[in-house]
Amino acid sequence: MLQEGKLYIGTSRKPDDSINKGEYLELKFGNRHGLITGATGTGKTVTLQILAEGFSNAGVPVFCADVKGDLSGIGAIGEPKDFLLKRAEQIGLTPYEFQEFPVIFWDLYGEKGHRVRTTMSEMGPLLLSRLMNATDAQEGVLNIAFKIADEGGLPLLDLKDLQALLNYMGDNASELSNQFGFISKSSVGSIQRELLILEQQGAEHFFGEPALKITDIMRTTNDGRGAISVLAADKLMMNPRLYATFLLWLLSELFEELPEVGDPDKPKLVFFFDEAHLLFNDAPKVLVERVEQVVRLIRSKGVGVYFVTQNPLDVPETVLAQLGNRVQHALRAYSPREQKAVKTAADTFRPNPDFNCAEVITNLGTGEALVSTLEGKGSPSMVERTLIRPPASRLGPLTEAERQKVIDVSPVRGLYDEDFDRESAYELLAKRAAKAAEQAEAARQAEEQTQEGTSGGSRWTLPGFGEDEPAAPSGKQARPRSSGYQRETIVEAAMKSVARTVATQVGRALVRGILGSLKR
Ligand SMILES: Nc1ncnc2c1ncn2[C@@H]1O[C@H](COP(=O)(O)OP(=O)(O)O)[C@@H](O)[C@H]1O
Ligand SMILES: [Mg+2]
Repeated sequence: MLQEGKLYIGTSRKPDDSINKGEYLELKFGNRHGLITGATGTGKTVTLQILAEGFSNAGVPVFCADVKGDLSGIGAIGEPKDFLLKRAEQIGLTPYEFQEFPVIFWDLYGEKGHRVRTTMSEMGPLLLSRLMNATDAQEGVLNIAFKIADEGGLPLLDLKDLQALLNYMGDNASELSNQFGFISKSSVGSIQRELLILEQQGAEHFFGEPALKITDIMRTTNDGRGAISVLAADKLMMNPRLYATFLLWLLSELFEELPEVGDPDKPKLVFFFDEAHLLFNDAPKVLVERVEQVVRLIRSKGVGVYFVTQNPLDVPETVLAQLGNRVQHALRAYSPREQKAVKTAADTFRPNPDFNCAEVITNLGTGEALVSTLEGKGSPSMVERTLIRPPASRLGPLTEAERQKVIDVSPVRGLYDEDFDRESAYELLAKRAAKAAEQAEAARQAEEQTQEGTSGGSRWTLPGFGEDEPAAPSGKQARPRSSGYQRETIVEAAMKSVARTVATQVGRALVRGILGSLKR
């Protein structure tokens, strides 16, 4: 059954149920993307598991999210359960060998795997807007915040960095609007509230350093197998936007960082996007277009993207059209929408004269699917009714203890486990504020002593932002805000820092890619 350069998916059957032939995914077309669909309980996760196993054995690293916690078993050797042995026999898989796979567990919350983080700067305004479900006005403000930070080389690492910058922007909205475009104070306020909500939802764990290096999800073992990165996503799924945004960010990172390789013998990485409907659910049109673009272009970087979802209608047509390797499990066809889904799914296959696709889709058994992969020069094979092979690794989750054991010997152990709070916007601002407060106090004392009315306003010049401000930080002039003097100086000092760097570093602005993450 096992063939060089091909990944064995299962065995197809003829109309009389006798064995037809083995169905394979050609590794050289592994970067031509894929789609796994079907109703709940029809076998999607197991299909994902056997594809991940196949890629790993072929030396291709895999990234996937474990939405229900039932994929972790891929890190343990399979058990010869009766129904698995029966399936193996049915499809002529002899010998049916069991195997454990090299997995790396990841978790945004750091509970079930190594921490995964990124920085605000790297995520960028487009994805952040999506994460916050921002209105146009809010997105405008975020764009300006990033413009200020990017141009000024002010690191926005975590949530508090962005908060500090937004504080400043809110307090100086009118001056900044002249320079950067309209900043609505109420939008700034709502973004700040949204950031607080994100923080409460645990997103603060996700923003910070050390940020994930994509080379760590592209590892291979000494014996040439691809590491399978499994992201714990059960808790993450409670915040579907964070889940979707995180995976998009990762995709975007891969796209921006990996070199062009054309069409390699096998993919450099395969990325499974489970619950893919969350990606596109009421996503703004511009984002869907960008995703479509990234999916199209990432192919030549050797990355295969496999969407897993219940309903093929969940994936926009422009994206669907790019998914060459397809495994369609059973669908129900009760409601009109379900009937439409069945028709859509059936119509996308190259027909097989032996059966009616739409009819078969509703009659497929568990672990059975319509399969069509790319062959020859890259055209879709005729669709075949296929019994999917049983996995070589364990079907079902690892125990806590087993998971911990895997984490303890992981190749990335210790690399991400501690937070690293580098000096960034927030700290820079706080530091300058302290200094400014000191200077202000000194100035005030000097003022009292000399009884002079003028002051050394030059300390507060705003190069790059038009007219110098009059000396603000004098004790008498402290504006009567509830937030108080200290915060006031923090944000003002912040802007000094930004302005100074803008003035000195023009031409070194950061560049952003298609999905708005940083280009290197
Ligand atoms: N290829 C297969 N071989 C053997 N059993 C399978 C196979 N695919 C699915 N099954 C059985 O069906 C169950 C449900 O499959 P699963 O992949 O979890 O469904 P889904 O992800 O679509 O909800 C599995 O736990 C397993 O018992
Ligand atoms: Mg599943």
